[in-house]
Amino acid sequence: MADPSHPDGDASPDTAVRLHRREAWQPWDHELERVELAFELDAECTVVTASLQLHRRSGADQAAPLVLSGRELTLLSVMLDGRELSDGQVAVGDRTLTVHGLPERFELCLRTRLEPVRNLSGRGLFVLGGTLVTQMEPEGLSRVTYFPDRPDVLARYRVTLTADAARYPVLLSNGDCTERRELPDGRHQVVWDDPFRKPSYVFGLVAGDLAAIRDTCRFPSGREVRLAVYAPVGHIRHCRFALEAVRRAMLWDEATYGLECDVNDYSLVALPGFPGAMENKGLNLYDLAGVLADTEITTDDEALTIERIIAHEYFHNWTGNRVTCRDWFQLSLKEGLTRFRDQTYIDDRLGGAYRIDTVRALLRNQFPEDDGPNRHPIRPERYADVEELYTATVYEKGAEVIRMMHTLLGPARFTAGVRDYLARHDGQAVTTDEFVDAMARAGGRDLAAFRRWYVQAGRPRVHVERQAQDGGIALTLTQTLAVAPDALPLTIPVRVSWFDRSGQALSPQLADGGDPALIEIAAAATRVVYADLPPDAVPSLFEGLSAPVGIEPHLDSDERLVLLAHATDPWARWNAAQGLMTDAIRAQAAAARDGASLSFADFPIQAFARLLDEAQEAPDSRLVLAELLRVPDEPVLSDGQPFIDVDGHHAARTALRASLGQALRPQLLRAVQDLGEPGDGELMHVGGLGRRRLAAVCLDLLAAVGDDEVARLCHERVLAAPTMTERFDALACLVDIEHPLRQSALDAFIDRWRDHPTVVAKWFTAQALARSPGAIERIMALQIHPLFDPQNMALGLALLGSFFRQNRVAFHDAQGRGYEWLADVLLMLDRLGRPGAVWLTPQISQWRRHLPERQAAMRRALERVAGTAGLSNGTRGLVMRFLDE
Ligand code: BES
Ligand code: ZN
Repeated sequence: MADPSHPDGDASPDTAVRLHRREAWQPWDHELERVELAFELDAECTVVTASLQLHRRSGADQAAPLVLSGRELTLLSVMLDGRELSDGQVAVGDRTLTVHGLPERFELCLRTRLEPVRNLSGRGLFVLGGTLVTQMEPEGLSRVTYFPDRPDVLARYRVTLTADAARYPVLLSNGDCTERRELPDGRHQVVWDDPFRKPSYVFGLVAGDLAAIRDTCRFPSGREVRLAVYAPVGHIRHCRFALEAVRRAMLWDEATYGLECDVNDYSLVALPGFPGAMENKGLNLYDLAGVLADTEITTDDEALTIERIIAHEYFHNWTGNRVTCRDWFQLSLKEGLTRFRDQTYIDDRLGGAYRIDTVRALLRNQFPEDDGPNRHPIRPERYADVEELYTATVYEKGAEVIRMMHTLLGPARFTAGVRDYLARHDGQAVTTDEFVDAMARAGGRDLAAFRRWYVQAGRPRVHVERQAQDGGIALTLTQTLAVAPDALPLTIPVRVSWFDRSGQALSPQLADGGDPALIEIAAAATRVVYADLPPDAVPSLFEGLSAPVGIEPHLDSDERLVLLAHATDPWARWNAAQGLMTDAIRAQAAAARDGASLSFADFPIQAFARLLDEAQEAPDSRLVLAELLRVPDEPVLSDGQPFIDVDGHHAARTALRASLGQALRPQLLRAVQDLGEPGDGELMHVGGLGRRRLAAVCLDLLAAVGDDEVARLCHERVLAAPTMTERFDALACLVDIEHPLRQSALDAFIDRWRDHPTVVAKWFTAQALARSPGAIERIMALQIHPLFDPQNMALGLALLGSFFRQNRVAFHDAQGRGYEWLADVLLMLDRLGRPGAVWLTPQISQWRRHLPERQAAMRRALERVAGTAGLSNGTRGLVMRFLDE
């Protein structure tokens, strides 16, 4: 094996799932100096010649054979230093190629043959809409040639691409294009030379017939980078925003961290159905949905995502490519850090309002994962399939852990720490320990208890107690971890501010000194005393959600109303609103279980009405105010509850929306119909974003009333609103209104946009999220819609991803059809060798928290998957983990 942490035959006896373990990592026995790859490219049959220059690592066993990884390859030939190998010298195993009897220093030359059109795995070399393209992370180059396909093997690459000039006029790879020639038989050839050493997972290649737009980015130092965006010719007119987005990200990274782009040519390529977005060195690859943007076809949320993903992949150039991961257990080293960087980048652009979006994503996807059977540390200890490491925990909690270091150190020392980390480890493959070491040096503290965040799975809960004391207030904060009661305490930063009952900010000091705005919980129980506070002062704790913990409820309604109206931190206001609404919904759901009818007569509707007045007076704060008016998602409603009351929560949530919709109707309609300022329809216009988001939330409340007037309003907006955001938000509301205009709006929408793949995907998403009665039949029927193509990753995400992950109602169809459909999809992905199973399961992984009948139906679906012959190790491991818990 190329990597001793990947034992082929280490079957653990109980489950027969083979596991790779973090402790098993060992350095490779050889060093790879140079890689030459020559591709004779064709969709049907591609021949790859790889020359690897190697020498034995000093200290490695003299007799150690060379072990390379490979899968689904046809080996044509293998030569050592220009000679054929004897039979005893080389052995080809299931996923390995082993060479014995090697000199100290040698060159290995391999020829392999591939069939890119038949590769449906989304990894290696494959075809998208006629374009040949690669995706090598985490392990893809071993689907192209036998290779040491592990991130700690870095090398310089020189790549020769040869292809038919008419079918593949554009030939791209990493680095600088150093040669270009026409060949006699209608073919052409280019050579790309990458001066930077890199791991195999950031190798990239694109061959196709693509259009391009170009520009440059000039840094304050005078350095200039040539930028390009490539796309199929029909889409190139929507690529200008992306070109400008990459420049914005480059300049922000220079201004914030002092990091310049190090390559001469930086290209983005957008292809239909590309699996996500990928940071290949100087050649970032995207699905169309990650690039195409203008007001005609793009919603505000998509523009934000595009701005963020483009920045994310660019930011990896330092945090990922220049300093990379020693092994995949360290994935959060690059993904958590880069996710944090993309979040703060967008937050800067939106004046702080984006934090609520980030927290909502964390609550929806990561908190349930951390509380359930798929919990794992942000630096996991083992995996069955490397693909299953790309989780909300590694990304989102990983980013929260970085954010806590930012909070504990302060921005200046944090930035110095990042720069120190990058300078010290430039060109290396390291572990998360090296990152925290750099933070510890920059912060002048050891961070010993903080480091436990990397090894401890599960979400701590913090209990808060308040006591009046000596003219002030004592706070006792206690941390517990239900899943590991013996776990050592973590360092938990708590941002604090205080208000009096009229909403005036107070500035108490800590009796023992220290920063009154930042408490550090460092032990199982931490007690701090604030001097000079009235006994009824209201604390605003964990501002900005300063730690990814469960905060036990500790405020009453009056105190929450103070924070809702007066807190200065947007998250604190939002959290107060969510708390008020969550309590009301849970109470009604519980009462309904006992036979009472739903009533929100006691709900403080006036406090929410005032938010609408505030939005009228202060247009700049609409982005935050919209979030304050948004009724909590189901994952918030069931957060920390042993039982997920799907039906009760849905009914009570709908009733609360309708109550607000009825009571506030004139104000809501005014907000929906506000035309805004001229020009605010531009993408990333902060005023326009706020106005339209407020309109969408208000329309959602009105839609819960669902009368004829609201249906007509939605229908009219789907057809005639000026921006895609408004058209799409109206469609998303209308799919849940039982009205003849629903189908007419869906038909009109798709008729108009059927030639725009990213809009078609949205149309599937809007329907996949529908939750009204009968929605499941309509959603399932979309599988055979002529515009649906399950092979297309973007459409798969739009329909299946949205339904299985985010439809918290229709997925739980009483007849279990949602679960059976998920089982079918998991089996289909597994047969195709496609990753993504873990990503589709955040709901079914919680099966033990549902009603007994639903538990039984989910268990049946999971058991059907587990019992299928020929299932991959990864999918079996995942499903068994859910069943075994
Ligand atoms: N390095 C990943 C791409 C990746 C994802 C490779 C999964 C292998 C498996 C890339 O940087 C990434 O994280 N992409 C995300 C978008 C990002 C903004 C979170 C994606 O592809 O969705
Ligand atoms: Zn990433």
